[in-house]
Amino acid sequence: MGLLAGRLQRIKPSPTIAMTTRAATLRAEGRDIIGLSAGEPDFDTPEHIREAAKAAIDAGHTRYTPVDGTASLKRAISGKFARENGLDYAPSQVTVGGGGKQILFNALMATLDEADEVIIPAPYWVSYPDMVLLAGGRPVIVECGIGAGFRLTPEALETVITPRTKWLILNSPSNPSGAGYDRAAMQALTDVLLRHPQVWVLADDIYEHLVFDGFEFCTPAQVEPRLKDRVLTMNGVSKAYAMTGWRIGYGAGPEPLIRAMAKLQSQSTSNPCSISQYAAEAALTGPQDYITESRAAFQRRRDLVVAGLNACPGLTCPTPQGAFYVYPSIRDLIGKTSAGGTLLDNDEAFANALLDEAGVAVVFGAAFGLSPHFRISYATSDDQLREAVTRIRRFCENCA
Ligand SMILES: Cc1ncc(COP(=O)(O)O)c(C=O)c1O
Repeated sequence: MGLLAGRLQRIKPSPTIAMTTRAATLRAEGRDIIGLSAGEPDFDTPEHIREAAKAAIDAGHTRYTPVDGTASLKRAISGKFARENGLDYAPSQVTVGGGGKQILFNALMATLDEADEVIIPAPYWVSYPDMVLLAGGRPVIVECGIGAGFRLTPEALETVITPRTKWLILNSPSNPSGAGYDRAAMQALTDVLLRHPQVWVLADDIYEHLVFDGFEFCTPAQVEPRLKDRVLTMNGVSKAYAMTGWRIGYGAGPEPLIRAMAKLQSQSTSNPCSISQYAAEAALTGPQDYITESRAAFQRRRDLVVAGLNACPGLTCPTPQGAFYVYPSIRDLIGKTSAGGTLLDNDEAFANALLDEAGVAVVFGAAFGLSPHFRISYATSDDQLREAVTRIRRFCENCA
């Protein structure tokens, strides 16, 4: 009998973390590496939020809190949903965890039985399929290619729904493609879901505020109120307020689901960090200038990167609606050989050669379920991005 549980064999370590670690190792060896693999804003947490955390420590808010969040944070989250999304969620319909990641994990662990199916449009955030597998469910991957704007169509959705479908995971704007669903595209999906009452929707809205060119964010429960009693609306402060390390995410949905998720959390991690909860409350109720400023910076960087990549021979880079990622296609480079002699027979070979030969760390598309692509996170300085794009262009020009 081995030490490790069978369930651990079903999952793999996060490929984005693996790539970031590899880049860090090369850097430690003295190599000049530009890291474009990590998915976090490069800005500091705004000052008033940091101050709220210091004040929380000094006020003695350093003990256990209720398992899934303080009453005042839950009220702040209810207020956020009302103000920004037109959604009426009572505090009792809100749960707070250690990042959006824990909310998703809790929801899947609390609801999936063996062989329950979860529809995941690809390209997807790397953790969705592994979380489903860990919970004993079956990920049903639907490829949504560059031609479809990386968006799930109502026709494709209708085809993959079965009596065993429990959830559809929708992430708009998306990691890794940056694609967003406008109201019409979202309504087309919710129309399909209305016909299948066994299917719940996990709306991952973590990139809500990072939308460009006037794109209007919408979320399923807001677009189709008749669906609200089978939607879990998930969000968090990590990306919106540059708070990735504070680990606060939240979800809102029907009370029985929220209670089940809290029960699971009560027997695993208990409450998320008390100090971070006070910081998150300050983020949600305080000045919102940071959101506007970071959005403008990210839009400028997106434009710089999209233009630079489209000038690289062999790359095609669509313009995303949001988040801080681009997901270019390398179809025209497949089969070629890099200057360093690597045969680019898939996107993993491309990403490894780009790191070794050009010193640019990106994540290969197979990790997100849609090839041949790679993901760039442009959450880094304009100067670094300009240099990275120059290196990528040189790399592509020398492939033959
Ligand atoms: C699509 C998506 N959902 C959820 C998360 C989780 O974020 P956190 O756990 O930091 O709130 C991330 C983070 O990378 C993400 O990209």
